[in-house]
Amino acid sequence: MPTNPPIKAARGLRDILPAERTAYAVVEHAAQDLARRFGYQEVELPIIEPVELIERGVGTGSDAGGKELYRLEPHADADGEAGARLVLRPEATASMVRAYFQGGLNQGPQPVRLFTIGPMFRHDRPQHLRYRQFAQLDVEVIGDDSPAYDVEVIEMTWGWLEATGIRNLSLELNTIGDANCRPRYLRLLQDYYRPFRDKLHPDCQRRLEDNPLRLLDCKEAQCQPFKAAAPKITDHLCGPCAAAFEQVKSLLDAAGLEYRLNPYLVRGLDYYTRTVFELQHGSLGGAQNALGGGGRYDALAAELGYPDTPGVGFAGGIDRVAYMLQHELGTVTPPAAADVLVLPMNEGLERAAAQVGRICRRASPTAVDYRTRSLRAKMRAADRSGATWVVIMNAEEAQRRVVQLRNLASGDQREVAWDALPEAITSPQGPGEIARSGGVKREGPE
Ligand code: HAM
Repeated sequence: MPTNPPIKAARGLRDILPAERTAYAVVEHAAQDLARRFGYQEVELPIIEPVELIERGVGTGSDAGGKELYRLEPHADADGEAGARLVLRPEATASMVRAYFQGGLNQGPQPVRLFTIGPMFRHDRPQHLRYRQFAQLDVEVIGDDSPAYDVEVIEMTWGWLEATGIRNLSLELNTIGDANCRPRYLRLLQDYYRPFRDKLHPDCQRRLEDNPLRLLDCKEAQCQPFKAAAPKITDHLCGPCAAAFEQVKSLLDAAGLEYRLNPYLVRGLDYYTRTVFELQHGSLGGAQNALGGGGRYDALAAELGYPDTPGVGFAGGIDRVAYMLQHELGTVTPPAAADVLVLPMNEGLERAAAQVGRICRRASPTAVDYRTRSLRAKMRAADRSGATWVVIMNAEEAQRRVVQLRNLASGDQREVAWDALPEAITSPQGPGEIARSGGVKREGPE
């Protein structure tokens, strides 16, 4: 008989199994809690978007909107209409801006504060903490250009990461100007780099013409010697961009948030204007040390064909934050699947065991072990499962609607009536104590 080779997940994609999922849940709950505290509302957006949204929003010159984009085969509709060119979203900001207009949120009170949590896709080289499918918390404030919102978003990112227990964050801050001052600066940058062209990495030789700003965040060793003397955009800002940057810095000071000015921080996506920032953590190391990043994108709406509308936001990498909690801080231990395990000793007890399971579930997560194995084998599995209680059932006791309730930590065991189980398994006392106080604690006056 031919045997098929076992099918594995595609390269760069991973399963998040129960041991890891708990850390993800902690990170997601912290995000939802903090976003709501700041008055942000949650939205769900499609994972599939028209290619134009990403190419014009994120930019074909960027990695995420260019070579790393997952393109889907167009599907013709039943009526013969040619199918749209679609992609898996590499990020959520362009989608958020689209949804803001398409859903009419631009008509209500401004600005609009939104957040979403979900998967993004980038066909990058798989590495530790750099996945082809990863989850982001994405937060956006759309409809106002005050630098106060830049700082609000940074404060929220920081607060989210701190709420998960992460400390020693480093906030990297820069501005990349706008359509008034950046073109002149980019010409200066090109003029500076052109004499060294042949000494640059081939990617940077391309960037020199296509996307000179990215020369500044190149990590290749051969390009590093040229960076230090490169002109800095902060010396070439127009008046309004310089004033906005001053205000961002002074509001960060007022919020007590320390930052490091990093003239080489330009971010990988094409839509940014003015403020850009990243929250990094040294323990992750290397190119994957950013837990989150963001900035202002005042020209994005117009690029997508909508009225000129400013916005600012950030996205945090849920996978990286969850990894930190689990592997760096060790603060998340996955709970047992069930606190209570019901162990019928004989066959024919399925109905009774299912009923006892239902009763216990009123108080605690409960699973029933229906396998036809010895009680010894079931007890061994129960011990390994991390459950607190086992409920041992035999046919004779089932007739009398009683069970043996055993506390796995203390080994105490006691007969308990079915209907008394919810109280017995939530009682802070062990079964021994329960026995001494006359079975189970009763509600009401003594
Ligand atoms: P980004 O810097 O491309 O920004 O991604 C934000 C965060 O997502 C990163 O700091 C990192 O933690 C995580 N991340 C990115 N790529 C991967 C990957 N391949 N594997 C695991 N984690 C990853 C954005 O996406 C912008 N949309 C942020 C933004 C919102 N700007 C304005 N509003």
